[in-house]
Amino acid sequence: MSGRVPAAVLYAAGEPLRLTELTLPEPGPGQVRVRMAATGVCHSDKSLASGMLRHELPVVLGHEGAGRVVAVGDGVTGLAPGDPVVLNWSPACRECWWCRHEEPWLCADAAAAAQRPYARLADGTEVYPGLGVGGFGAETVVSASACVPVPADLPLTEAALLGCAVLTGVGAVRNVARVKPGDSVVVIGLGGVGLAAVQGARMAGAAEIIAVDPAPGKAELARRFGATDVLPGGPGLAKQVRDRTGGRGADHAIECVGRPETIRAAWSSTRRGGQAVVVGVGARTEAVTFHALELHHFARTLTASVYGNTDPVRDIPSLVADWRAGRLDLAGLVTDRVPLDRVNEAMDRLGMGARSVVVFPD
Ligand code: APR
Ligand code: ZN
Repeated sequence: MSGRVPAAVLYAAGEPLRLTELTLPEPGPGQVRVRMAATGVCHSDKSLASGMLRHELPVVLGHEGAGRVVAVGDGVTGLAPGDPVVLNWSPACRECWWCRHEEPWLCADAAAAAQRPYARLADGTEVYPGLGVGGFGAETVVSASACVPVPADLPLTEAALLGCAVLTGVGAVRNVARVKPGDSVVVIGLGGVGLAAVQGARMAGAAEIIAVDPAPGKAELARRFGATDVLPGGPGLAKQVRDRTGGRGADHAIECVGRPETIRAAWSSTRRGGQAVVVGVGARTEAVTFHALELHHFARTLTASVYGNTDPVRDIPSLVADWRAGRLDLAGLVTDRVPLDRVNEAMDRLGMGARSVVVFPD
């Protein structure tokens, strides 16, 4: 069943993705071959394509995907051809120190698949799967542990978003901030991840959800997902947040941009004793500074969230239950659908709408 499939390949950082064909192997022991149905375009794809984040090259990016199993290798149980699955870009080994200490999102082995070539280009060159997934290809081969089954009635275009933006955004609110009913929450950056965090805050029962993004069109989206206020951000943000939270600042800030000024703004927007959660992935070249006295005075917590501190095997079924109950709006997060040959346009459009999704033909 091996054969050639179309894929968008990044050959060098800073270049556009180029459409080409891959030759994929049969799934080996413990592996699964998946025909992609849909793959969301995440800001991390842009950061990888620009070289801000590094990846082995050449690479098929795309790590927010869903599709159907087409073949399974020896020893794979619980998955069969035809099964709909969401792909997990950080499958846990279940054996390392972090996995044994119930922090599978920090699994020592999570990046292993991204560092192993999984297919060949037409000229025989080995190619790597982006974050182990390779979702901007019509098919991929992944470890069975990277496949999370989903129900047949969940549209796969919506399911794809569970693979990164929704796990990351809702997870940051539930697992890291642990927002409680009545809390106040600021969400900075309203892309796919931030808008999922807004929904997470609404599902947690937050009383104030202050959504922050200067880009046009974001206010309407944010309100649809539960924001009680929308602000453009900038230097006056912390004061505007205090004005809306009894003069104190918010209980929680969720930073979903990954820039020094938004990380600082998240910190400054929280109350004494509050918590800022950095979800955005910044550059190694950019520093965030705090003066020594403010750390003591404000007694805030600054923490990061990796993949929403989720275990996708546990948390994707729980998000599916939220979707089924009508609490989690996945369809509304999909604001643009493009075929694979327009993936570069979708990458350029990051920052507009909620999520663009590459949709593959049946
Ligand atoms: N203040 C507020 N919002 C900002 C600012 C700012 N100074 N600068 C940019 N933004 C907004 C953009 O307008 C955009 O709407 O942040 C949003 C980012 O959205 P996307 O590009 O769609 O990014 P997303 O995929 O949601 O990822 C967000 O999380 O996983 C990480 O690497 C990812 O760092 C990225 C972040
Ligand atoms: Zn992502």
